[in-house]
Amino acid sequence: MTARMAAYQALLHLEKRRIHPDELLRSILSRYAHLSSVDKAFATELVYGVLRWQGRLDWHIGRLSKVPLEKIDFSIKVILRLGLYQLLFLDRVPSYAAVSEMVKIARSTHSRHLSSFVNAILRRASERSSDEWDWPDVAKEPIKHLAVMTAHPEWLIEKLLKTMGYDEVEAFCRANNIVAPLVLRVNRIGREEVIQWLKENYPNTSEITPTRYAPYGVIVRGLRADISETEIYRAGFIQVQDEASQLVAYLVDPLPGERILDLCCGFGIKSAQLASIMNDRGEIVAVDVASWKLEALRENMARLGISIVRPVQGDVLELDPNRIGFFDRVLLDAPCTGWGTVRRNPDIKWRSHPRSPWRMSNLQKELLDRAARFVRPGGILVYSTCSVFFDENEQVAFNFQRNHNWKEISPQGLLEKVFVCKEEAATFVDRGFFKTMPHLHGMDGFFGAVWQKPK
Ligand SMILES: C[S@@+](CC[C@H](N)C(=O)[O-])C[C@H]1O[C@@H](n2cnc3c(N)ncnc32)[C@H](O)[C@@H]1O
Repeated sequence: MTARMAAYQALLHLEKRRIHPDELLRSILSRYAHLSSVDKAFATELVYGVLRWQGRLDWHIGRLSKVPLEKIDFSIKVILRLGLYQLLFLDRVPSYAAVSEMVKIARSTHSRHLSSFVNAILRRASERSSDEWDWPDVAKEPIKHLAVMTAHPEWLIEKLLKTMGYDEVEAFCRANNIVAPLVLRVNRIGREEVIQWLKENYPNTSEITPTRYAPYGVIVRGLRADISETEIYRAGFIQVQDEASQLVAYLVDPLPGERILDLCCGFGIKSAQLASIMNDRGEIVAVDVASWKLEALRENMARLGISIVRPVQGDVLELDPNRIGFFDRVLLDAPCTGWGTVRRNPDIKWRSHPRSPWRMSNLQKELLDRAARFVRPGGILVYSTCSVFFDENEQVAFNFQRNHNWKEISPQGLLEKVFVCKEEAATFVDRGFFKTMPHLHGMDGFFGAVWQKPK
């Protein structure tokens, strides 16, 4: 087994099954103990690189092959994408190695005829310099140009152009291709202590700095270890959580002793943070439809030393206040297309359907209506997503506002309470809503709306 073969297997799996690339890689790589950490890192880079640049790699295949892309067997397509990624994006891999190693994989898994096809395409690619490709012309085909250059589906670009200018769409797509840092939230310990510990134990890490806005966040780049294997992680001193996700908890702004409802809690990343803001005093009812996620949530709470989170398995649409009561604050962190997290989940680009945002939007409106029933008079409702689409964000919030005469709370004041640079809070607010974007804030794209129920 080589790193390239492991990457090939992972990408084949991802074509067939909807599974998180990280989870899959962890399981594939754990089966090959003989692979060095350098090999494992290379396999990971190949998988993420191909997922990130898939649309562009397919465009190259289309320019090089006489057989139309749709007619090429998907496993051969995976081999070609892997080869082209090494040839066109990785300077440190010599061309002959990229071609010959991928042809070897093709030979061991496919017929002679198909491995010759792989050989021919990759050789042709290796002989071309970047100015020998007939790139789509920005003036004649601006959408196609952006789609190919930044490896995003054309429908996404067309959709974003309805609410954003061309330059901004381009900046967003480019930011999506930048590898996101690992972001931690510290728990029950000072942020400086965590930074110091990481610096002492992993001195080769390229960056370990505090987050600029979230008061308990740490940004880590170039860590040569699996964070979940570290002592500070096992001891419950850290939680992996993007800075934008950390900021959502400050929109909820819970107080110690209150009753909080976390709807669609997933693994409880936000429940844990809310509990920590509340000094583990009060009650958080955390609801999710997926019982396996609640199992992970329980383990996570035990690791973090949190006792006030009570997991409840159920569908929010069928949940009844007679069963769980009313709450001071309700967070609906709704299921969404996840387009704000493409830096971390590049496969979203190719899995998403053009109608997915619209479908999600309908579900989100229903969920939000249901969530409102659990808020006590005078209580707070927060709606959040990790999407960047108007349909899933503003449209859902406007729809709620049309149907409910609740007071809109501006996120600015809530963020000013926690930001060191208070004047920057305004840059996170758009039309009265909380909004982050990777190209503007260097964080995942999140949306948040806050309302207060009349007394
Ligand atoms: C955006 S994720 C939640 C992330 C989580 N709040 C966090 O901070 O890590 C959305 C979650 O909604 C759950 N979900 C989707 N539809 C649901 C429904 N009708 N009722 C309850 N949970 C649902 C999914 O299982 C998923 O865990």
